[in-house]
Amino acid sequence: MEERISLIKGDITTMQVDAIVNAANSSLLGGGGVDGAIHKAAGPGLAEICRLLGGCETGEAKVTPGLHLPAKYIIHTVGPVWKGGDKGEAELLANCYRSSLNQAKQHDCKTVAIPNIGTGIYRFPKKLAAEIAIIETKKFLESNNLPLTVTFVCFSDENFNIYRDLLDS
Ligand code: APR
Repeated sequence: MEERISLIKGDITTMQVDAIVNAANSSLLGGGGVDGAIHKAAGPGLAEICRLLGGCETGEAKVTPGLHLPAKYIIHTVGPVWKGGDKGEAELLANCYRSSLNQAKQHDCKTVAIPNIGTGIYRFPKKLAAEIAIIETKKFLESNNLPLTVTFVCFSDENFNIYRDLLDS
């Protein structure tokens, strides 16, 4: 199991994988953070394609081509805005990982890279988000042959250290 999960610190837009996951918003029309970086790297055609998707519910995931990205697909998922923790945020974030991994499987992706969904502009607590990410990913991989590998891509040292400690424990 552990060999199917890896961790790196870097920019997800450079990942040479079958699919990268985007921490989008419900409009799917781009934004700041990793969403902004992905739209910038994929090119203006991405917003055109996303406009046809009619948005995305929190916890759900929709797929587009990667366009100018090295990745073949972008799996857009919408994390919950943190509202203190008693509005179902944890379950919604867990759904982001389940939905994204399911979409990766449906698209025959062998390799997938996932950022730290929800932990930036949406202010989800980083450690809890990392625990949810790791637990849900392990659960999915235990009962699915695809994707073969998942790489957690951390942009900040803080998130990288949190994931490293959790994965090592
Ligand atoms: N590669 C990988 N991770 C990145 C990158 C990048 N190029 N840029 C930012 N990140 C990290 C941030 O450091 C953070 O840990 O992505 C994580 C998620 O933060 P956000 O991108 O702010 O996403 P989120 O908290 O889910 O908020 C989503 O932000 O960008 C808008 O349109 C988006 O409204 C939506 C909201």
